[in-house]
Amino acid sequence: MRVLILGSGGREHALAWAIAASPACDALFAAPGNPGIAAHARCVPVSPNDSAGVIDFCRREAIDLVVVGPEAPLAAGIVDALAEAGIKAFGPTRAAAQLEASKHFTKTLCQEAGIATARFATFHDASAAKAYAGDHPLPVVIKADGLAAGKGVIIAATRAEAAAAIDAMLGGSFGEAGASIVIEEFLEGEEASFFALCDGETAVPLATAQDHKRAHDGDTGPNTGGMGAYSPAPVMTQALVDETMARIIAPTLSAMATRGTPFRGILYAGLMITDEGPKLIEYNCRFGDPEAQVLLVRLQSDLLAAIVAAVEGRLSETVLQWSPKAALTVVYAANGYPAAPEKGSVIEGVEAAGSLEDVIVFHAGTARDPEGRLIAEGGRVLNVTALGDTIDSAQRRAYQAVGAIHWPGGFYRRDIGWRAIARGL
Ligand code: AMP
Ligand code: GLY
Repeated sequence: MRVLILGSGGREHALAWAIAASPACDALFAAPGNPGIAAHARCVPVSPNDSAGVIDFCRREAIDLVVVGPEAPLAAGIVDALAEAGIKAFGPTRAAAQLEASKHFTKTLCQEAGIATARFATFHDASAAKAYAGDHPLPVVIKADGLAAGKGVIIAATRAEAAAAIDAMLGGSFGEAGASIVIEEFLEGEEASFFALCDGETAVPLATAQDHKRAHDGDTGPNTGGMGAYSPAPVMTQALVDETMARIIAPTLSAMATRGTPFRGILYAGLMITDEGPKLIEYNCRFGDPEAQVLLVRLQSDLLAAIVAAVEGRLSETVLQWSPKAALTVVYAANGYPAAPEKGSVIEGVEAAGSLEDVIVFHAGTARDPEGRLIAEGGRVLNVTALGDTIDSAQRRAYQAVGAIHWPGGFYRRDIGWRAIARGL
């Protein structure tokens, strides 16, 4: 099978690494890929958002399957465009990607299907929004309705902050994404990322994982795309996995199928584990980044075979096997991330780090300079990933590998995995 991966982050490097290992993979391409992905796939200068360019490339190279990494091309309908061109793709259609692309869509679906989530209301008008925010307990959560690259959420601790967030969002600070806003109740608890592989009807849960969204140690600083992750996440007990499957994932799949927009792909639920059980914070319609990195290094089953089963609606026959080992990844980010990451600094020692036992360094925002040196090109740059018998030992190994990298232009959190380790794991 000839496979094309769309994207250029650490998630796509992990996908390329896992798909390249499948006996069914005859040729692997990535658009546009990155220098790490280039070890497993031929990288081609095609943008994942250029659906005509992607279709042209697929025809030229007789691609059998396209695996879409990021949400933007999914929300723009690349899977629909590929299907029209007769090309198989893994990921939801534009209509099904609404689960990530519109918070109002998802909140309404939850309400109709009886799925536990924060109480909410949707607004287009600032004065009505402020009246509602003024009337509900603090803190209150204000969200841009559309895709805002993880930055469209403000947790307002005061009425003045809430009013400022409402004015900024409805005033256009997130462009079209903020043309309407959702205001919701603040949920207390511990967060977990939950993933299910879906074929429109059947959902197969993946192993559990937890992300670290804040930029700095102790979960302080601005929200980011994720500064590190580990799997399994002890907060997600088997009972919570079963409850999440039965009360959140299954009703979502059946509501989507009933609406005539079945969900195929990775359904990623951001959960808050509250005293009343798991509640849905939000859906994403793709693998998490960096959660994919820790999940895929633990996956023992053939990822490509599982993806093809999902695309072909055969997941009821699929069982996924996971390594009993723990995995942990540390995101090494460019100084200035997330606000203004500095580009161009030289990174050394990545090969030495990656040659340590049970360590893989996934590349995200890397590039090569004209002399062939590895340089920083984006915000999150490397994902230093390690396996261990426990989360504690995976953490030690990951930080040992981080220590082998010489990159004064970057920073990382020193406490990835702290919640699990505090539980004695
Ligand atoms: P989202 O982009 O919806 O994942 O939100 C980003 C982050 O904001 C989440 O990971 C949570 O940490 C936080 N958040 C979002 N909604 C809520 C909520 N209703 N209650 C508490 N925290 C929230
Ligand atoms: N790690 C968070 C995300 O992928 O959205």
